[in-house]
Amino acid sequence: MYSIDHVDAGTPVSPATTLVTLEIDGVTVTVPDGTSIMRAASQVGRQIPKLCATDTLKSFGSCRLCLVEIEGRRGFPASCTTLVAEGLKVRTDSEKLHALRKNVLELYVSDHPLVCETCGANGHCELQNMAEVVGVTDSRYAPGANHLSAPKDESNPYFTFDQSMCIACSRCIRACDEVQGTFALTMHGRGFASKVAASQNEPFMESECVSCGACVEACPTVALTEKTLLATGTADKAATTTCAYCGVGCSFKAETRDGELVRMVPNRNGHANHGHACVKGRFAVGYATHQDRITTPMIRASIDDPWQQVTWDEAISHAARELKRIQDKYGRYSIGGVTSSRCTNEETFLVQKMIRAAFGNNNVDTCARVCHSPTGYGLKSTIGESAGTQRFDSVMKADVIIIVGANPTDGHPVFASQMKRRLREGAKLIVADPRQIALVRTPHIKATHHLQLRPGTNVALFNSLAHVVVTEGLTKDTYIADRCEADSFEKWKTFVSGERNSPEAMQAVTGVPTAEVRAAARLYASAGNGAIYYGLGVTEHSQGTTMVMAIANLAMATGNLGREGVGVNPLRGQNNVQGSCDMGSFPHEFSGYRHVSDPAVRGMFEREWAVTLEPEPGLRIPNMFEAALDGSFKGMYIQGEDPAQSDPDTQHVTAALASMECVIVQDLFLTETAKYAHVFFPGASFLEKDGTFTNAERRISRVRKIMEPRAQLADWEVTMRLANALGYPMHYDHPSEIMDEIARLTPTFTGVSFDKIDQLGSIQWPCNDAAPEGTPTMHVGQFVRGKGKFFATEYVPTKERTTRKYPLILTTGRILTQYNVGAQTRRTNNVAWASEDVLEIHPADAEVRGIKDGDWVGIMSRAGEIVLRADVTERVRPGVVYTTFHFPESGANVVTTENSDWATNCPEYKVTAVEVMQVNQPSEWQKRFRAFTEQQLGLLKPRRQPVATR
Ligand code: SF4
Ligand code: SF4
Ligand code: SF4
Ligand code: FES
Repeated sequence: MYSIDHVDAGTPVSPATTLVTLEIDGVTVTVPDGTSIMRAASQVGRQIPKLCATDTLKSFGSCRLCLVEIEGRRGFPASCTTLVAEGLKVRTDSEKLHALRKNVLELYVSDHPLVCETCGANGHCELQNMAEVVGVTDSRYAPGANHLSAPKDESNPYFTFDQSMCIACSRCIRACDEVQGTFALTMHGRGFASKVAASQNEPFMESECVSCGACVEACPTVALTEKTLLATGTADKAATTTCAYCGVGCSFKAETRDGELVRMVPNRNGHANHGHACVKGRFAVGYATHQDRITTPMIRASIDDPWQQVTWDEAISHAARELKRIQDKYGRYSIGGVTSSRCTNEETFLVQKMIRAAFGNNNVDTCARVCHSPTGYGLKSTIGESAGTQRFDSVMKADVIIIVGANPTDGHPVFASQMKRRLREGAKLIVADPRQIALVRTPHIKATHHLQLRPGTNVALFNSLAHVVVTEGLTKDTYIADRCEADSFEKWKTFVSGERNSPEAMQAVTGVPTAEVRAAARLYASAGNGAIYYGLGVTEHSQGTTMVMAIANLAMATGNLGREGVGVNPLRGQNNVQGSCDMGSFPHEFSGYRHVSDPAVRGMFEREWAVTLEPEPGLRIPNMFEAALDGSFKGMYIQGEDPAQSDPDTQHVTAALASMECVIVQDLFLTETAKYAHVFFPGASFLEKDGTFTNAERRISRVRKIMEPRAQLADWEVTMRLANALGYPMHYDHPSEIMDEIARLTPTFTGVSFDKIDQLGSIQWPCNDAAPEGTPTMHVGQFVRGKGKFFATEYVPTKERTTRKYPLILTTGRILTQYNVGAQTRRTNNVAWASEDVLEIHPADAEVRGIKDGDWVGIMSRAGEIVLRADVTERVRPGVVYTTFHFPESGANVVTTENSDWATNCPEYKVTAVEVMQVNQPSEWQKRFRAFTEQQLGLLKPRRQPVATR
């Protein structure tokens, strides 16, 4: 149930453009045709009593509380299901209506006595509110038959289902169907015996429920309620903030009581989520107050020494002394740093500023290196801007959707729900993925084509799709002539129409049947609006950049860029990966993607920052690790990233970290990387600081402080102090001043300020004089680079080949309930769904190896060996195995190799040749990992004595 700052108008907004004028209680109101009387009344300040209606769901008309009188019509129609009509005269209150409503409510109260004072959700119940509004305190019908002794379902770790409090309004069922698209709930039985049930009348945890909370959000009573709300009671404070998990960037009201978090309520005014959420952002926030949080700065001389707790001043001056010592001894380029895609834009901007201005070099990089760097390069080269082209709402106008190398229901769940809505309305779906992701077949949705290609053959597949488009005359020639470079188009056309790119020729490479490719190409090319959504299954390849270009080529050739409903849309993994790239985290670019070698741009930064800046690009993350192993790179500042777990070839990364003289880690927990650190700066969670995140739609949203930093300082304050200690003066009183500086220095941000975001709710960049309120759709009229440029995307097979020794291809991904390296979600009740990484293997591959479901299996590649439990499933095709990397002890990245994208060094996580066999003990690496972890936790123990001061 929604209660803060939101007037629930009862039914959704009508999309109609024609207007209708009517009179409600004597007040004239004009609303779109198709609006309910209930919503129109709300517009003139009349809140008609209701129980079964809410503005996120289609009207249902079951409770009969919202009755109205309409002049000239007989009876008392329900205002939630009756639509407006020109000239109607509606009355929302009268003695008769009051008596009818009172009667309805008394019936409800006979089954649900108003014992609100003793109820944990007192103040959060619409039945209680309605009783108050209508003036009902008791029931003439009580005590009658009731459900008061019905059992509770406490199986879900985050919410309770208390059937005794259920008024059978079906809002939960409709929310699960319409909003979430899981269809997990039904109404069992009839009349008095009717009962909300999950799946086949199972406990929630054993049903198909994915714990998104939409039913909890929709429930008007305490029947479905957050356990934290029941335990803590009503909040006394709330602030609107942005989820710190994935790139959807859902907006929430974070509610607190006495400074402690009570619950996260999805914001119905949130532009990215419209009141929906997933299990991570909605519920998995307990990590922020987890006992593993390190809240005191620590230092040590070597990674074999115990940690020593120190004050912030001591930690910062020690770190600065060490960095200066290293630079004096090994030179200016011997240190560098990594910004965080989990931190705010302001914090990220400050870290790269400190590195460029105080370290005096461009050795700065970000974790986007290992995820979406090919997106930046590929889209910038073809269409001129390295970001997604649409807003999420655009998908509601798509006719054909291609999902390639992404698993939205797990990685971007709220957007997946929106996409599912559009698919249920009739849009067609093409999935290109080696795995059978959930969207291939889910309730009421079946992909028209699943192009189940071999890992590593994306470019071959897209070249063959393009071949069909070109050779069958499906290109949009006027669009191309108007908007694209003629030369590049002609070259590309000649290239893709070559026989070697035909589906027939490529079938041997991709494994996708020719007929499927041809049909999919025709479907996309002849769609009114064709939209492409892609993820790391596109970028994390040796040809990641080539594939991004191939996607852009296909979209340009079919005229599918530059309006709503179409586009090329990277689904960003982390909450602020778009922002960290925008903020100048790459070694060759300042904020706004401008090259460091451009004297005009560099001059602007030099004047603002009063320092001379390096004109040559610095080291990328893999180069930093290479240089560390070569002995020329000795110090590193890593804010909010965990390369020891997230980067490929773990043993290479940890050897590099271990070879450095000063590794500074700023994080919430002792991460895998922090185990190799010499200085630990405790980080602040997103609940403890102000700033902004930028989501996958380029949407900049506010992060607001709702509790004081547990370690006393927000991350930006720590960076600022470190820069000052290094001798480079920085002073900001509030992150809004950092955003003002970003706006001064970045053409796509000139119109952005905290005040404007507060005013508009969120802003999609570019936001400047040309687009003062931001840019929902890019490339309208013309591409950002002027003319769109086609690139011939020759398919070059990866070096990583299957052999007799390594006959299977391992590919990696993520699951719904865990997130990235798992540092946050592993410290929440989400472990109830997934407490380990497993290896998916096809039954045929399992059988020949004698592997049964649940067996321990060793996975060997030329980089290393790990052991996981087997999940024998047909989700993967024969020859392909799949795992996730959420649990450090699994060591998925021990087996991934150093292969990377030719243009950006983005690692090839998605293709590793492996062999799999039954084993009965952990791998050697896992044994070493356990011993090292035990040692490092031991070195952490004595730390809990002194108390830090600011
Ligand atoms: S939590 Fe979500 S998936 Fe589960 S029953 Fe409720 S709406 Fe459906
Ligand atoms: S659980 Fe809540 S939303 Fe669902 S039918 Fe009962 S009262 Fe309505
Ligand atoms: S979809 Fe992403 S942003 Fe939204 S709540 Fe889930 S994790 Fe957070
Ligand atoms: S709110 Fe209209 S019938 Fe329930």
